[in-house]
Amino acid sequence: TVGTGKLEDVENIVEQALSLLKTGDGRQETGDKRQEPEDISGSLAPVSSLLSHVSDLAGENFLITVGGTREAIDPVRFISNHSSGKMGFAVAQAAAARGATVTVVAGVTTVPPPDGVHLIHAVSADEMHAVVINELKAATVFVGAAAVADYAPANPADSKIKKDGRDLMTLELRKTLDILNDVSLHRHEGLLVVGFAAETNDVVGYARSKMEKKGLDLVVANDITKAGAGFNTDTNIATILTRSGDEIELPLMSKREMADRILDEVLRLRQS
Ligand code: PMT
Repeated sequence: TVGTGKLEDVENIVEQALSLLKTGDGRQETGDKRQEPEDISGSLAPVSSLLSHVSDLAGENFLITVGGTREAIDPVRFISNHSSGKMGFAVAQAAAARGATVTVVAGVTTVPPPDGVHLIHAVSADEMHAVVINELKAATVFVGAAAVADYAPANPADSKIKKDGRDLMTLELRKTLDILNDVSLHRHEGLLVVGFAAETNDVVGYARSKMEKKGLDLVVANDITKAGAGFNTDTNIATILTRSGDEIELPLMSKREMADRILDEVLRLRQS
């Protein structure tokens, strides 16, 4: 489990294997001079569905927000949420595996980013907003998977707030900039905009109203009260809503698998 003999994450092994299969036998990339490999195509049936869409997003430039934001109260305290980055990184990994160029704007995450993506860090909602607007011109698909704080302390203190003599404390909050809304508002021709919605009740209703208000192409609505769905799990359960009114139910599955299902819908929109 540790050190030299540690088993690599199985998902990484699959990603690397797929990338070798995509380039033939991988020797072009590694310079490996081994013998010609035996023909294994007949034994590849279990991965044939993965291979079938290996480069179907080539030419797309994804810009994806991932993780949670941190809003400073003072130099030692902040407001944040439970996002791990697993869902957003899964979308980034899947898009890169399918041939897209991927830029990830990551807030606070608890898992490492996937290989093969351009990573930019942004801690607060306003920082994330600035980076996204700066990167947006080059994007063809925007995915808002981050759990961005809706409110931030209005006047963060420059030095540690002392508790002496205070039993109650009031924090004044201001609304943060809405990244997804602004991306949609300033969208250039051809940009597809995908949002997520983390809800606890009337999941589809709230998600559809977000979609209409923010003018989105797709929304992935997670019911975060369900076991195995939402924050910090390796799996998710969601409904994809499309602007043409479709509702695609995604039952319990790994976030990586769900990422591919979301990308299938992005591709369908692109081709429609
Ligand atoms: O990271 P994980 O632990 O894997 O968890 C995954 C997830 C639950 C964080 C993810 O799947 C998810 O649902 N992300 C969106 C969470 C959220 O903030 O939802 P919301 O309903 O508050 O926001 C709706 C959309 O607006 C989201 O796309 C969000 O990124 C975007 N938003 C919100 C506020 C804001 N100021 N700017 C935004 O861009």
